[in-house]
Amino acid sequence: MANLIEDILKYLSENQSVNTLKYAQLYNEDHQKVIGALKSIQAHGDLVVAEPISETKIELTEEGKLVAEKGSHEANIYKSVPEDGIEQSKLMGLPNAKVGFSKAMSVGWIIVDKSVKPPLVKRKIPEIVDTVQNHLDLIRTGDASKITDKEKQEYKKRKLIQEVIIKSFNLTKGPEFSLTLTKLETDLNTDMLSSGSWKTLKFKEYNFDAMGVAPECGYLHPLLKVRAEFRQIFLEMGFAEMPTNNYIENSFWNFDSLFQPQQHPARDAHDTFFISDPKISTKFPQDYLERVKKVHSKGGYGSLGYGYDWKIEEAQKNILRTHTTAVSARMLYKVAQQKEFKPVKLFSIDKVFRNETLDATHLAEFHQVEGVIADFNLTLGDLIGVFTEFFKKLGITQLEFKPAYNPYTEPSMEIFCFHPGLGKWIEIGNSGIFRPEMLLPMGLPEEVTVIAWGLSLERPTMIKYGFNNIRDLVGPRVDLEMVQRSPICRLNK
Ligand code: PHE
Repeated sequence: MANLIEDILKYLSENQSVNTLKYAQLYNEDHQKVIGALKSIQAHGDLVVAEPISETKIELTEEGKLVAEKGSHEANIYKSVPEDGIEQSKLMGLPNAKVGFSKAMSVGWIIVDKSVKPPLVKRKIPEIVDTVQNHLDLIRTGDASKITDKEKQEYKKRKLIQEVIIKSFNLTKGPEFSLTLTKLETDLNTDMLSSGSWKTLKFKEYNFDAMGVAPECGYLHPLLKVRAEFRQIFLEMGFAEMPTNNYIENSFWNFDSLFQPQQHPARDAHDTFFISDPKISTKFPQDYLERVKKVHSKGGYGSLGYGYDWKIEEAQKNILRTHTTAVSARMLYKVAQQKEFKPVKLFSIDKVFRNETLDATHLAEFHQVEGVIADFNLTLGDLIGVFTEFFKKLGITQLEFKPAYNPYTEPSMEIFCFHPGLGKWIEIGNSGIFRPEMLLPMGLPEEVTVIAWGLSLERPTMIKYGFNNIRDLVGPRVDLEMVQRSPICRLNK
């Protein structure tokens, strides 16, 4: 590049002017490179004057190049016709035979003799001159002066030639002409100011079209992007967020308050992570705890209970919460303590932990999205209605429900949605109406019904961002560039 710049300047010092295209041809340079060198020269001041020139030039098309080399289609047809004629069908195998045949007919080179059976194609004149080929060959060598405009028009119509516009510059010496480029300053500094050298130095011009350096910033992980979108949906629907900032919970709020019996397999160390230090919690609302104990062991509120010996030691055990429904239980208890019940709509999206065998779709920790509505006389119809609305905002319109079992809801339903991409129904959530055995000990009025549902955040995220293996999304194998590259999440698009 530096050489090319100096070569161009040297050439200009020895010649009045030069056209960039001619220069490129003369020195067998790429014209784009010559233009690049010119731009650099221009960036250093008025060394040269560059007058833009645009010329139209005719050029052979691919077909035109073929004709220039192998002859026109009509001439090739003519040459293939033997002395005593040939059946037309036998000629048609040649390349471009159709065009060639009709051209050769119209210029009067061949004739179809219909007096014989089958009719034969014969030469009409003993000799031809392939003007088309000759002309195209001239154009190929850059000498089109002998070709009339009418002929050019014809070749253009036949798509043998095309016009191209070639842009170049005529260069002459400018007022600041020099044989070399002085180095341009890029930054004004204090030295230049104090010495006054800035007055004579040349500064590089700012390029306001240049792309800026991308600012360094953090990136949201896809899970967080989807979480933000879910949160938005809940907020739009008038839900308030529950405080889920404690991963550690005790068994009382995670299980007992939810009418989950103490022998339930989910409370086993195989399913739940128990905390060793501090091993237990000791502060509980005492009267509520007594009511929970009673409903488990003896029943009440029209329920027989489970009829087992409920132990405080089991309820005290600290664990990593296995579901955010533990937080919902705490919140509902709080709501029940108010003097007057007011309907509430609550949601949470946060991490839960289960002692699972890890595989492509299961990790020991994941996020739950949970919605809870407490109001007077809600029905299963309300639950289905809310889902329809909620999932519609996610772009999911086909829903189906299947009866299910949860210790704390009755009835319970698994929620299935049709996944058009996978072409099948997949389970996305679990839901139900909280049991009186859970709500009444809390102190909620009997006419109050609480509907709730939960789903994982990971499943929709995997579907949305096309992950097949959860370990590519969460954990030590996560590619940080994936996090940077992931687009923002628009669920209903
Ligand atoms: N807690 C349930 C789960 O972990 C989800 C759920 C929430 C079910 C609320 C019913 C009501 O799967």
